[in-house]
Amino acid sequence: MAQRALDRLPDAIEGDGRLDRASHRLEQGLAFTENLLGITGGRARGFLHGVWLGHPLHPVFTDLPIGSWTTALVLDLTGQRRAARAAVGVGLAGALAAAVTGLHDWQHTHDNARRVGLVHGTLNTLAFAVYGWSWWQRGRGHHLRGRIAALAGYPVIMVSGFLGGALVYRHRIGVDHTDRRLEPRHFTRVMAEHDLAEKSPRRARAGDVEIVLVRADGRIHALENACPHLRGPLSQGWLRDGALTCPWHGSRFELSTGVSLNGPASAPVPCFQTRVRDGWIEVRRAPVAVTAPPGSALVHQQEVRP
Ligand code: FES
Repeated sequence: MAQRALDRLPDAIEGDGRLDRASHRLEQGLAFTENLLGITGGRARGFLHGVWLGHPLHPVFTDLPIGSWTTALVLDLTGQRRAARAAVGVGLAGALAAAVTGLHDWQHTHDNARRVGLVHGTLNTLAFAVYGWSWWQRGRGHHLRGRIAALAGYPVIMVSGFLGGALVYRHRIGVDHTDRRLEPRHFTRVMAEHDLAEKSPRRARAGDVEIVLVRADGRIHALENACPHLRGPLSQGWLRDGALTCPWHGSRFELSTGVSLNGPASAPVPCFQTRVRDGWIEVRRAPVAVTAPPGSALVHQQEVRP
């Protein structure tokens, strides 16, 4: 019952096509601003997506406003005015960082996730304005006004946090979309060597796993044929500066390691070992470093036999 009531909000937002117009305008504004600031490519783009962290940067900041504003609520209840104002200020700084990184990620979402993301961002903006006013009023000595504003802003940030959760758990935004099973464990034939042209990515199957093969600079590389961002088909991508580019939103991946170079994908693409035997390309999953104690089930699961 409670679950159905909670689902109603994202359901209603997802079904509201009127949000698309506002989304489109915001996306255009964002693209224009990022072009102006020079963060559409290269390091700045990757930094905001969290490529350097191997994890989206946005969730690193989202807990700051929620935690700080919850703290402010408690400090207000116990009458600690200065500390409460400081907590509101820390929350504002975190909310600003979360907004910049969240907007940067949002522009690469689609359909229902995009609508939920738009409402999530609008509520965050509203909460930011209310808490900003609360902080300012407190600084001018109007503590009661500041406390009332904080009380009004708290439910807004809670609802927005719930929608942020829906973006992750329902729409899988920000999660790694690749298949990290350790298959195939043994070298498996996937394609005749003469069928793979230089610098021309080709799709192939290794057992149950779909892969992309790339021949470049005398080496054959094999990566999973799914972009970690939203499963874009990498075999339809192209090579640029020695890296494989996703055709959907332009993430670029190092061929030998699968590491993302610029985002929006922040996780690496799983790689496979390759060899040529009797004119056939064979691949197997690259062995995983054993980190579990000897004899444990995890070691058994990670073991890759030659
Ligand atoms: S699916 Fe978005 S960058 Fe590949």
